[in-house]
Amino acid sequence: MKLPEPESKAAVVEAMFDRIAPRYDLMNRLMTFGLDRRWRREAVAALELPAGAMVVDLGCGTGDLCAEALRAGCRAVGVDFSARMLEQAAARGLRCALIRADAANLPLRDGLADAVVSGFALRNFADLRAVLREAFRILKPRGRISLLEVDTPSWAVLRFGHRIFFNRVVPQLGKFVDRYAYAYLPSSIEYLPAERQMMEMLGAVGFSEVAKRRLMAGAVQLVTARR
Ligand SMILES: C[S@@+](CC[C@H](N)C(=O)[O-])C[C@H]1O[C@@H](n2cnc3c(N)ncnc32)[C@H](O)[C@@H]1O
Repeated sequence: MKLPEPESKAAVVEAMFDRIAPRYDLMNRLMTFGLDRRWRREAVAALELPAGAMVVDLGCGTGDLCAEALRAGCRAVGVDFSARMLEQAAARGLRCALIRADAANLPLRDGLADAVVSGFALRNFADLRAVLREAFRILKPRGRISLLEVDTPSWAVLRFGHRIFFNRVVPQLGKFVDRYAYAYLPSSIEYLPAERQMMEMLGAVGFSEVAKRRLMAGAVQLVTARR
């Protein structure tokens, strides 16, 4: 499919998540066989935070990562620009603040956060570099970032199976919810910087200790770094 151009991407993505918000969690559970919960737990655990630490979740959607942060004894703030996704998050009654804002222009003060997390949102940000700069700004010195995203397995056999599932099965499943959104999902992997570029981008923003872990045989990546 043809992906949105940079100048229209934010508006297209916002409208798309507004449309799919009521079915977003169900589709996630179906597409990942419920494993997405475990990945989110790992993304928060990787931060090794003490109880009470402040975690900001960028592109929080329906609040799954905020919920994990709260479960780990942290405080959480979720930020998303989709009003409907935030409504779903609010309906869960999570004890955290939810803010409607662009992750590339956060209404949060410098050094507020002990940690920043983001789940499956990197592909969707129209300006990833600007979002990383904002994450850096709101982090305390030595604060950590944990970024969860889809990835492409490096093993040829797995890559083949993954391609069939992601490019064929997911759009078929998703067409009952929103044909465009679940065709966009596998295609949007093209927006992701390659591994080396991603590491360099984090380094250029100022992050250190950049590391990448592969989950689910490389179908998911967890990138961590320190301010
Ligand atoms: C695939 S969803 C991920 C939701 C959630 N983090 C999760 O793990 O399920 C991506 C989210 O990023 C949000 N998003 C995309 N670009 C954004 C931006 N520039 N600022 C704020 N939110 C954004 C979308 O509205 C959507 O809710």
